[in-house]
Parts: sequence; C-alpha cells; structure tokens
Amino acid sequence: NFTPNAFVEEMVAELKEKVGNDKVVLGLSGGVDSTVAAVLLHQAIGENLYCVFVNNGLLRKNEYQSVLDQYKGMGLNVKGVDAGDRFLSELAGVSDPETKRKIIGRVFIEVFDDESHLIEDVKWLAQGTIYPDVIESVSVKGPSATIKSHHNVGGLPDYMKLKIVEPLRMLFKDEVRRVGASLGIDPELLGRHPFPGPGLSIRILGDITPEKVQILQDVDKVFIDGLKSWGLYDKVWQAGAILLPVNSVGVMGDERTYEKVVALRAVESTDGMTADWVHLPYDFLMKVSNDIINKVKGVNRVVYDISSKPPATIEWE
Ligand code: XMP
Repeated sequence: NFTPNAFVEEMVAELKEKVGNDKVVLGLSGGVDSTVAAVLLHQAIGENLYCVFVNNGLLRKNEYQSVLDQYKGMGLNVKGVDAGDRFLSELAGVSDPETKRKIIGRVFIEVFDDESHLIEDVKWLAQGTIYPDVIESVSVKGPSATIKSHHNVGGLPDYMKLKIVEPLRMLFKDEVRRVGASLGIDPELLGRHPFPGPGLSIRILGDITPEKVQILQDVDKVFIDGLKSWGLYDKVWQAGAILLPVNSVGVMGDERTYEKVVALRAVESTDGMTADWVHLPYDFLMKVSNDIINKVKGVNRVVYDISSKPPATIEWE
C-alpha cells in the first residue's frame, strides 16, 4: 500500500544522504515526472539543484514560455534553453520514427551536456524516469520487448561522467501524481496529460517541417482547449492530435480543397502500458472537428482514432 507522505520523507532523506553537498543537474520537460523529481530534489538539496528546460521546438503551442514561468514561480533554479531551430534543422528530411527519436535524444544530450558544463563541478544527473519507462525500454522479454527507444532512459553518453539519480524509478504514474500532491505542486500541473519526450515529432507522420509543427500545434490547442472547456480533460489519461502524411479532397465554398488530415486520439489508461480509446461525446467531436477545420488553415478533415493498446500503441510512431 503506497503512502506518498512516507515516500517523500524517505526519499528526501535518501537523497540527502546520497547526494550530500554535491551539485545536481536535472532536465525539466514540463511534465509531471520531471517536475515531481525536481521538487523532491529541491526539498532535499535546495540550491544545489540546477534545472535546465530545453525547448526542442516540438512542444505544445506556447508551452515553452508558460512552463518556464511556472517553474520560476515554484522557486526552482531553472534555466531555459531555446534550441528549437537546432532540433528542427537536424530533423529536416527525416521520416523514420526511431531515427527521429535518436536524433532528438542525441541533440538533447548535446544541448544538455553544454549546459551542464556551465555548472561548475556538477556531479549528478537527476532524471524523472518512472517505472513504466524502465520496463518498456529495457528488454526483459526478448528483443521485441524494446518497443520504442525512450530517449530519456539509458541514453547517457560516457563523456558526461555524471552519476545518475532517479528518485521516481520505482513508481507508477498515479503514484508520482500522489507524491506531487503531497509536495504541494499545483494540481493543474499534476493533472497534465503525459507528453512524450520527442514531442510533436512523433505525431507528425513523415518528415517534419516548421509549417507542419505549427499546424499540429494549432490543431492540438483547439482539441485540448476543447477538452478542458467541456470538462473532459480530467476524464482522459492522454490526448493529442496526429498530423497524417496524406492530403484529402474537400470543399470550401465553391472551391475544391486538397489539404491535410488530422487524427485525434484520446485514451484511458493507468500507466500507458495498455490503453482504451475514450468514447468522447459525439457532440464534442462534432464541435471540435468543425473548430479545427475552420480555424486551422491547411486542414480539411478530422478523424478519430478508435484503436486500443494493444494491438495499437498510444502514439502513432
Ligand atoms: P506508446 O505509444 O508506446 O506510448 O503506447 C506509451 C506512453 O509513452 C509515451 N511515449 C514516449 N515517452 N519518449 C517518451 O518520453 C518516447 O519516445 C515515447 N514514446 C511514447 C506516450 O506518449 C504514452 O504516454
């Protein structure tokens, strides 16, 4: 039986003991896991925790600035690094999902490594790795068990020479949220849907361009804002939009259009290992589909993903 308060107490003591007076660097992602890991460490070691928040250019619309502001408001010592252009230029022309993940993982480490070298005498790297990341990445059932290479696990090159500390490594997502609540983290932040490290890159099927990122950010915003205003956001474990690599014929006024198709995905899950698609109300789907097509230039068709995991996965790539 998991008790968040006891976990916090024990983990803070363990972190103090383990890390002592060393400096620790941590990459914040804007998500629940890295935020909870940061606040835990901040409680244990205070100003010796140095947080870095990298904009990979593949975050949700306006999220880089708003999340950075939120972190500063929480008293965390955080530096924002806007590397969006660098990521997007490295990704140009790349369509293969695993190659996208590898590029993003590599560039992230390069950016992060540069940043950690600016912190004098840093000894530790903290990560918000949680239990499902560990078991989905480390092959325990044979080669096919390495389903997707989660870039935030085991991706540490030797040259960084940092020791790793992962305070949430044994926890499931719901436990992480409960720990966050007992640490006094804003419930809205804790209730945020999970968002993959490679961000929108794995929701843009095919190659990635700045224009596609912008279209998908706009679509995603209409969808997520819609879920919130209909009171559906908290009933869904994860939601997002996918930009498909096909154009479809439509009609606007008297004009024939030939534009992009987006898929909407909303799932129920407890830990992301299995998932069911959510039976969103037809009225909501109708409204959000109209809003997307009317507001986002370049999209003329919206479809809804009704596949469960397994055999599908939550993300399309
Ligand atoms: P799948 O698509 O494998 O997703 O059913 C399960 C959960 O993991 C997230 N996901 C990722 N998270 N790096 C991450 O940090 C990744 O490469 C990655 N791929 C999938 C996905 O959003 C879902 O919550």
